Amino acid sequence: MTTKLTIRRPDDWHLHLRDGAMLAAVLPETARHFARAIIMPNLVPPVVTSGDAAAYRDRIMAALPEGMSFEPLMTLYLTEDTDPADVAAAHASGLVKAVKLYPAGVTTNSASGVTNFDKVRPVLEKMAEIGLPLCIHGEVTTDHVDIFDREKVFLETVLDPLRRATPGLKVTLEHVTTAQGIDYVRESEGDIAGTITTHHLMINRNHILVGGIKPHYYCLPVAKRREHMEALRKAATSGNSRFFLGTDSAPHTDALKENACGCAGCFTATNTMSCLAHVFEEEGALDKLEAFASLNGPARYGLPANKNTISLVKEEIPVTYPEKIAAGDETVTVFDPGHPLYWRVT
Ligand code: NCD
Ligand code: ZN
Repeated sequence: MTTKLTIRRPDDWHLHLRDGAMLAAVLPETARHFARAIIMPNLVPPVVTSGDAAAYRDRIMAALPEGMSFEPLMTLYLTEDTDPADVAAAHASGLVKAVKLYPAGVTTNSASGVTNFDKVRPVLEKMAEIGLPLCIHGEVTTDHVDIFDREKVFLETVLDPLRRATPGLKVTLEHVTTAQGIDYVRESEGDIAGTITTHHLMINRNHILVGGIKPHYYCLPVAKRREHMEALRKAATSGNSRFFLGTDSAPHTDALKENACGCAGCFTATNTMSCLAHVFEEEGALDKLEAFASLNGPARYGLPANKNTISLVKEEIPVTYPEKIAAGDETVTVFDPGHPLYWRVT
């Protein structure tokens, strides 16, 4: 039985760091284990221009505690007014590694997202030309589409037409939550990849709703039926280079989560590596953890894998993590998979 595993230091290809006191609180949680992360731009106001991204990167680096190293990989929030020339310059300077597309209204702070996809066509064409990836929150926002079907419907009605209209565009379907999303990423032609979160490998919709409503399991896209979780686990542990880790660790204060209208987001930065080792061991695929967390993502972004390593050791007694971390005067609850974890990062 494997009880020790050494892998290249992992990266997180979808992370929310926020700003101010929250940024200061959550950044060390990621930097402790991860070398780099794709930083989501859904601040209020969003990170839209190269100037916004440069300023945000500086705030992140200023919040990094002494002695820790971390490289934020910045993204731009795509709006109907985004200037293709600004995007190209931000890419050429090395500042920006991806552009993020939120359909307007789809999730937290997405009001400035895209409603009319024709309006962003010139940006997408420029991105295809220069090889800059588009990260997509893949859900429709149509009222009459059931929330559990919004990813599946997006694949057919938005993603596939968008990719056909812009051949050569590098697309990452983020936080895939359905078997249909997995099949689409695995089987479709062209330049496509998918990120998978930690929590979607461990919870399904029963975890949110059975025995009382669990606000800390509510995130977007919402966790689906168990069979979808199983499809995600198979894809993540397959070694297929199209799939890699994007935790979507998305901190909100407890006051905003434990609320009559609770915010979407699971905060998994603190214990992600223990959670992933647990899942990969259950799937008999510990040998694939490095590909998922440390190799496939950099390869996709044309970056080298990290040179240094982390080790995970399986303990006899459960590894404990704080139930909450402090953020200014408030608290943020750490994702609780609902069972003990035994893999500790050394
Ligand atoms: C994210 C957030 O809180 O910013 N929430 C979430 O549930 N994942 C937004 C997002 O990525 O959808
Ligand atoms: Zn997210």
